[in-house]
Amino acid sequence: MEDFRFQNSTDIRFGKHHIDEELHDAVAQFGQNVLLTYGGGSIKKSGLYDRVMKALDGLHVVELSGIAPNPKIASVRDGQQLTKDHDIDVILSVGGGSVLDASKVIASAKYYDGDAWDLVADRGAKSRANIDQLPVVDILTLSATGSEMNSGSVISNPDLNIKLGTNGPNTPAVSFLDPQLTYSVSKWQTAAGSFDIFSHLTEQYFDRSTANDVKAGIIEGMMRSVIKWAPIALKEPDNYDARANLMWGATMALNGIARSGNANGWTVHPIEHELSAYYDITHGVGLGILTPRWMKRVLSDETEANFARFGREVWHLTGENDREIAEKAIQATYDWIKSLDIPMTLDDVDINTDENFVEMAQEAVRIGGLDQAGGYVNLTVDDVVDLYKASL
Ligand code: NZQ
Ligand code: ZN
Repeated sequence: MEDFRFQNSTDIRFGKHHIDEELHDAVAQFGQNVLLTYGGGSIKKSGLYDRVMKALDGLHVVELSGIAPNPKIASVRDGQQLTKDHDIDVILSVGGGSVLDASKVIASAKYYDGDAWDLVADRGAKSRANIDQLPVVDILTLSATGSEMNSGSVISNPDLNIKLGTNGPNTPAVSFLDPQLTYSVSKWQTAAGSFDIFSHLTEQYFDRSTANDVKAGIIEGMMRSVIKWAPIALKEPDNYDARANLMWGATMALNGIARSGNANGWTVHPIEHELSAYYDITHGVGLGILTPRWMKRVLSDETEANFARFGREVWHLTGENDREIAEKAIQATYDWIKSLDIPMTLDDVDINTDENFVEMAQEAVRIGGLDQAGGYVNLTVDDVVDLYKASL
C-alpha cells in the first residue's frame, strides 16, 4: 500500500426528503446571488426546475442553460462571464456529470481574468495553487461520474479536438442525491452511467500497488452491487433500490476512497476521452467498448493473479487455474456489458475509420503517461492504436 492523504468535505444529502426542505438554506448560506446551471432541458421536463425555483424564492437567480454532454469550453466561458457580471456568490448545478463538471470550472473561472480554457489546459494547476473557487451546490440527476464528491472536471474543446480532465481545489460543498430524480434517465444513459461506475472501479482495482486488501475488498463489493442493480434499473426504471444503489455506488466509486493506497493512474479513461474528443460519443459507451479489449491486452503472467481474484470475488468463478479464471472473468465482463445493450464496437457508434487513431493514441499516451508507468501496464502508442483497431 502506498502513502496517501485522504480528505473530502462534501456535505452529502442522500434520499427522498432533503431537497424541498433544505435546498434554500444550503444555497443561501453562501450568499444571495446564485448561478443556476443546467443542461438541455431534462430538468424542465421532469418538473425539477420548478421545484428548484420555488426553493430559491427570494434569492437572485441567474441562469446558464444548455450545458451539453461532454461539456464544451464555450459554456464554461459563458458561465465565467455571468459570475463576474452578476457578482455570483454560489453555483447551483442541476443535472448530470456534464453540468456539474462545467460548473466546477466556472466556479474557479470567476476568479481568473484570462481564458477559462487555461484552467483546463494546465490540468488545474493554477486553480489549485492560487485561484479561489466559488462554492458549488448540486442536485444530481444521473448516476455515473462521481463528480458530486470529487474535485475533477472533464471539459471538451471541439476547436482543438481535445477533451481533458482537470482538477480544482474543492469538491462540491453540498450534493443532493435523490435516486428518484434518476427514474427518468433513458436506458442508454442508464447503461452508460452504470458502466462508467464499473470502469472507475476497474481503473482503480487494477493497480501496481500490492497487498491493499482494504481497497480491493471495497471495490469488489461495489462492483458486485453495480453488476446486480444495473440490469434491474434498466428493466424497472423506477425501482428505488436499484437507483439508490447505483447513485451511492457512483459517488463512492470516485470520491477518493477506492484509490487510497494506489500506485498509478488510469488507462482506459484517457484512451476513451480521445474517442469523445474526436467523435463526441457517450463516455460510458466508449468505456464499455474498450474495457474488455484492454483487459485482454494486459492479461499476462504478471497480471493473471489480479484478474483471477477479480474473477473469483466479483464474478463468483471457481477453479484452480488462475489463467482460466482470468480469461473467464474478462468474458463475463464482456457479456455483462453486452447484456446492458451497450454497443460493443466502434462501428456501432458510427466510428468506422482509423484515420485519427495515431493522433488519438499519441494524446492518450501523453496525457495518461501510459508508456511511463502512468497506468497499470505500460502501453505504447502502437498498443493503443491496436486497441482502437481491435474495437472497430
Ligand atoms: O442535458 P439534459 O437535458 O439534462 O440531459 C442529459 C444529457 O442529455 C440527460 N439527463 C441527465 N439527467 C437526466 C437526463 N435525462 C433524463 N432524466 C434525467 N434525470 O443525460 C444526458 C447525459 O448527461 P451527462 O451529464 O453528460 O452524463 P454523465 O453524468 O454521464 O456525465 C458524463 C460526463 O462526465 C465526464 C465524462 O467524460 C462526460 O463528459 N466524467 C466526469 C468525471 C468526473 N468529474 O469525475 C469522471 C468520469 O470518468 C467522466 O470522464
Ligand atoms: Zn468515467
